[in-house]
Amino acid sequence: WLGYHAALPGANGGLHKAAPIWSKRIEVQEQHHVMDTALTELSQGLSKLYGVQPEIIKAQTQDALHNERIPAIRLGTLDGSRFAAATLTDSERAAVHGEGFIIREDEAQRELVISSATLQGVLYAVFHLLRELTLKPERAQTGAASDDMKHGKHKRIDITEQPVNSLRMINQWDNVDGSIERGYAGRSIFYENGEFTRDIKRIRDYARLLASTGINAVAINNVNVHRKESLFLAERYLGEVAKFATAFRDYGIRLFLSANYASPIEVGGLQSADPLDEQVREWWSIQTAKVYAAIPDFGGYLIKADSENRPGPFTYNRDHAEGANMLAEALRPFGGLVIWRCFVYNCKQDWRDRSTDRARAAYDHFKPLDGRFADNVILQIKNGPMDFQVREAVSPLFGGMENTNQVIEFQITQEYTGQQRHLAYLVPQWKEVLDFDTYAKGEGSEIKRIADGSLYRRPYSGFAAVSNIGADACWTGHPLAQANLYGYGRLGWNPELSAEQIADEWVRLTFGHDEQVVERITGMLLCSLDIYESYTAPLGVGWMVNPDHHYGPNVDGYEYSKWGTYHFADCHGIGVDRTVKSGTGYTSQYHAENAARYESLETCPDELILFFHHVPYTHVLHSGKTVIQHIYDTHFEGVEQAEALAETWKELEGKVDPVIYSKVATLQAEQAEHAKEWRDMINTYFYRKSGIQDEHARTIY
Ligand code: GCU
Repeated sequence: WLGYHAALPGANGGLHKAAPIWSKRIEVQEQHHVMDTALTELSQGLSKLYGVQPEIIKAQTQDALHNERIPAIRLGTLDGSRFAAATLTDSERAAVHGEGFIIREDEAQRELVISSATLQGVLYAVFHLLRELTLKPERAQTGAASDDMKHGKHKRIDITEQPVNSLRMINQWDNVDGSIERGYAGRSIFYENGEFTRDIKRIRDYARLLASTGINAVAINNVNVHRKESLFLAERYLGEVAKFATAFRDYGIRLFLSANYASPIEVGGLQSADPLDEQVREWWSIQTAKVYAAIPDFGGYLIKADSENRPGPFTYNRDHAEGANMLAEALRPFGGLVIWRCFVYNCKQDWRDRSTDRARAAYDHFKPLDGRFADNVILQIKNGPMDFQVREAVSPLFGGMENTNQVIEFQITQEYTGQQRHLAYLVPQWKEVLDFDTYAKGEGSEIKRIADGSLYRRPYSGFAAVSNIGADACWTGHPLAQANLYGYGRLGWNPELSAEQIADEWVRLTFGHDEQVVERITGMLLCSLDIYESYTAPLGVGWMVNPDHHYGPNVDGYEYSKWGTYHFADCHGIGVDRTVKSGTGYTSQYHAENAARYESLETCPDELILFFHHVPYTHVLHSGKTVIQHIYDTHFEGVEQAEALAETWKELEGKVDPVIYSKVATLQAEQAEHAKEWRDMINTYFYRKSGIQDEHARTIY
């Protein structure tokens, strides 16, 4: 999406002729590594768009030249550059803060001022401008600007943007041996055979990709921190970590490490990791100081504790507030953050025990701790209470913790959504979660307002997500899975953007403006998640995948396991009773409006019926269909739709890059085939369990 296709030969008749007057010269006063990045991006982007390399005029001569009003782009921070002061009024300047920015063309359209309170903001503005010029080539043409640029009598570029979420983070689940936990795009770009990559260029390219969508933080190693990765904060690797930090820093991205809670033992040779033990606390303080000596702008620690066999404070009978606050104390002198994950549940459950409910776990553990976390601790909460299923309820912790910083965690990597072999554009799912009204402070208490910190006026808040990239040439395995990485960044910047707009942007930036290409690919993206849902686990019950690797259907794969992930299907019915009346009581974790809606079969939405209720196969949904007929119908339809996706793509042969064309064609054919496997296994399983015939007498085995 950084190819800047608008000016490719043939597209729009060679746009360089219409290059804006200001595009041939860039003036800048400040010297800084992020400013250098912004300059490079801007001049590269403009020369790709218009075929002319702009002249760059730096500090020394800039003052005099500016006075002469030579047409130019003038770039700088609000406080550090003269022209920002000269062009913008006080109230305009006050309208942007932090990483927000202004891009403003003068009345004569001879000067373009780009300004922000921060250097990062200047860089985001540059990416934004280049995106706009690519998406709306008419913007570049003097006097021919689009409607939304109208300002007074003149049509000119006048953009003010402010990121909605302050933390916009990516989590890498990469291991130092070069593998990636839940990675579906090849090996790690970060590590190889126990060492950090020497290919810093690739790391920079990745930083560039991320920054262009607005990402400002990255944790560079798996949340499951094994023996070797525990040493990232020690001498053995710290120098290497610092090199990565430099690459990311140039793009305004802060580096975090996933840390092992038992580091004092594993790395420090102590006997204990008890958060109340003085020696342990001192060890963390000293070690953290060493990290900051190497990386002065280090972000902090991301922690998975007492979760899926990882160590944590429970070992010492301490709670998670005590655990997190100990790290917060070590980080505080340096302005560092503890990002503490709430993915805590009993992963050694007895499947015979129907009273324990994994969905309840995060709320049960963390809700009682509200208000006890230090001010530089942020809880990272998965979007749902289970684990990134195609469909599950939203986590009731959103709306449950008024006095705690929190970020929402999404999974861009498609662990349960087709592993980048099936097409699944995830932005619609994330939007649904963000738009969900928790009623925490009455109507209008949407999750997006909790994630962005505004509902509870929290100092730290935002988005985190598990990356989907690897060493694969197109980064993401399935080339169209790039839309998820792009979409995540854009949504973190502005959750009001629609899934349609983000898809349209990504497709145009990536494939150009050919209307057929745009229409077909956005169409494929926008229906893809519904299609995937229709031929996999039905009605919000989740799972039904092969254990361990999680690819492909296996209805009972997790039914008699210790993981707390059951569907409870028998010959009469299916689903998990999470009601207060007769089930696990999970529904009570929501605020009254939602609790009541989910508790009652009458009001529970169809798509989550099996998440909240155990019902007979003959239960009639709001759609008018029985549960069993819904299962049959969606699975037959899903396969047809998956086949249609493959057919749609074939229409684009010769219209998109041939390598990408054939890669996607192969993947879509595989998806269509694999969807049949899902259909037949699920339908057959439920036909055999229920003994109920398909109304349309289609083939079930
Ligand atoms: C899922 C995933 C694990 C991962 C875990 C987590 O359970 O399968 O591989 O470690 O989530 O989020 O920590």
